[in-house]
Amino acid sequence: MNPALETLMLVFSGEEALPVPDRALFLGAEPHPDLANWPQVIGYQPFKPKATEWDNAGLSRIESPAGKWPLVMLLPGKSKDETLAWFAIARNHLEPGGMIVAAMPNTAGAGRFEKELSKAAGNIHSVQKNKCRAFYATIDDRCNPAIFENWNSLIGRQTIANTHFTVEAGVFSSGHVDAGSEFLAQHLPAHLRGKVADLGAGWGYLTHELLERCPKVESVDLFEADSRALDCARTNLRKFSQPIGYHWHDVSTGISGEYDVILSNPPFHTGQATDVDLGRAFLTVATSALKRSGKLLLVANRQLPYEAVLQSSGLAWRKVAENETFKLLFADKR
Ligand SMILES: C[S@@+](CC[C@H](N)C(=O)[O-])C[C@H]1O[C@@H](n2cnc3c(N)ncnc32)[C@H](O)[C@@H]1O
Repeated sequence: MNPALETLMLVFSGEEALPVPDRALFLGAEPHPDLANWPQVIGYQPFKPKATEWDNAGLSRIESPAGKWPLVMLLPGKSKDETLAWFAIARNHLEPGGMIVAAMPNTAGAGRFEKELSKAAGNIHSVQKNKCRAFYATIDDRCNPAIFENWNSLIGRQTIANTHFTVEAGVFSSGHVDAGSEFLAQHLPAHLRGKVADLGAGWGYLTHELLERCPKVESVDLFEADSRALDCARTNLRKFSQPIGYHWHDVSTGISGEYDVILSNPPFHTGQATDVDLGRAFLTVATSALKRSGKLLLVANRQLPYEAVLQSSGLAWRKVAENETFKLLFADKR
């Protein structure tokens, strides 16, 4: 179980436990056995694998934060802007005098974020355990509204500087175009054609470049686990007339359909940790979803050991380019 979640739940079960509330909203929701006994807790979880875990635990979920609550809990991700935006969202959805409870690993800057919330709320308490920190504040007349107003500007859509691309804090590569994806885009052969899938499509950069550079592409299906990134992709790709499918989906569970071309800049992190197996799972899924003679075009950090997966999947692969950081592996299904 996520140690930050265990630490968060200690706030409601330790020696000086806060009472379990009648109703609570949980941003970045992850299931915990104790939550089964809470009268009402509604989760918001943009990352599909975790949303599935939450649903499978029989808990209620909403697609975006809504309503007013006496308690808002949060388990933020790795991005500073996302964490501050989530503090603002939490406050926007609190009843007067309500409480924000957040938890995060020490290595993700828990101490720094506790100070930020303390400055904004004018009060703070915290619990430390499991190399994580849970901290909570009441939002009442001690609060500094100007700080929350500032954080409100981080909520929702932003534009990447000097581009027309729409992003949101917390999605992959929200500050700039990813250098690996840019490297792949520069090497996309103009003759690619037919039905294409983009696995781990993010906010749509690779598909955008594909549709700009490859006029014979007939349709694209984007598969992406982060619902916020997928929503940004809808905006970023709306100018194209080809049919585009948007799938909020955990690629590691497999995809349906058969494709002439599959593009991917596979993820290699789960939460804070490096997870090469996730990238490997993407390649295995891509191999099964390719038509015979279909093409897989992949960009990866140079040190990631993907060649062995391509080899054992029976693909004819070659390294078409590399630079100091990335390599491009192209493969054909025989
Ligand atoms: C390296 S990024 C590439 C994003 C995008 N193609 C780009 O070029 O900006 C990998 C993407 O995979 C997504 N992802 C992570 N785990 C996933 C999963 N299990 N299923 C589908 N997408 C996933 C991440 O949210 C992220 O957007």
